[in-house]
Amino acid sequence: IRVALLFGGRSSEHAISCATAGSVLAHIDRDRFDVVPIGITRSGALVLQPDAPESMTLDRMPEVGDGDRVLLPATTDSRELVAVDAEGALRSLGDVDVVFPILHGRFGEDGTVQGMLELAGIPYVGNGVLASAVGMDKHFTKTVLAHAGITVAPWITVQRREWDADPEAIRTRLGDLTLPLFVKPARAGSSVGVSRVTSLIDLDGAMREAFAEDSRVLIEAGCPGREVEVAVLQGRDGAMPRASLPGEIVLRPGEFYDFDAKYVDPDRAKVVCPADLDEHTLAAVQQTAIRAFEAIEGSGLSRVDFFVSDEHGVVVNEINTMPGFTTISMFPLAWGASGIGYGELITELVELGLA
Ligand code: DAL
Ligand code: MG
Repeated sequence: IRVALLFGGRSSEHAISCATAGSVLAHIDRDRFDVVPIGITRSGALVLQPDAPESMTLDRMPEVGDGDRVLLPATTDSRELVAVDAEGALRSLGDVDVVFPILHGRFGEDGTVQGMLELAGIPYVGNGVLASAVGMDKHFTKTVLAHAGITVAPWITVQRREWDADPEAIRTRLGDLTLPLFVKPARAGSSVGVSRVTSLIDLDGAMREAFAEDSRVLIEAGCPGREVEVAVLQGRDGAMPRASLPGEIVLRPGEFYDFDAKYVDPDRAKVVCPADLDEHTLAAVQQTAIRAFEAIEGSGLSRVDFFVSDEHGVVVNEINTMPGFTTISMFPLAWGASGIGYGELITELVELGLA
């Protein structure tokens, strides 16, 4: 089976995607799968890459370079042409049985690449157009989940135009959203552009940082509680999705799980897997993870992130439709704790993509 691994990409999570691809290249079952590594540069060029997982580790924050062969150049005046050419570029590789888009963030995890693959009629791993688009956008994730009866933290969504015109009106709209507030770009990942605001004096700066990433920003009431994450896999042959044992991120009080704690200084965050939860809470997060996955019409995989407390119960923070997948990432750790090892997990995902 020939698998094209797509990684890198135009989003702020480029390096994370490369590190994930490195782990996948190192662990994919080579007896069963031929792998074609295809990098997407920061400017959107598709480039055939060397099959060199040893250089693609998180501590190096890897980047897609010039590679072996450019399949599609980045510079073009016509965006439409890029989409058509990308399909042609993939076809030019000959028979590819399945594409594994290990892309985080916009132009990869948001349904755009998935749409191109749908048009090209090439099977792919992971979530489809709708689930990817909904999962990428925090405003729409929360709207869909709330409608499905799943608890999310209270929030307001602000357009750049509204903020520029009248920030005072936005402050009024905060109503009873209590401090600390979290300010988040609607479509970003790995906490890029996210701030924790403990005093309203800091709101301006936080909004500026978030608007640097997106034209819509969420202001959310900070939800106290333990940070618990559940990995979800699509069911086989139409069966119910499967939920892993949960993992937990343990931080120092007052800190939040920002980009640094995730990748740069991981000592700031302790990952505990499986999380120590009572039976009732364990069942609640697993069931809610499956409900959330189904609410966005998920397929393949997702990681559902929660805040859990006695006061508020089980609150969904977000869904990641292509979660980080390095060997130290929560998604494979959680499945490892649940009895599915890293290599086996890749096989499972590729088979689900082909089914
Ligand atoms: N967005 C990062 C990669 C994650 O959710 O793991
Ligand atoms: Mg995320």
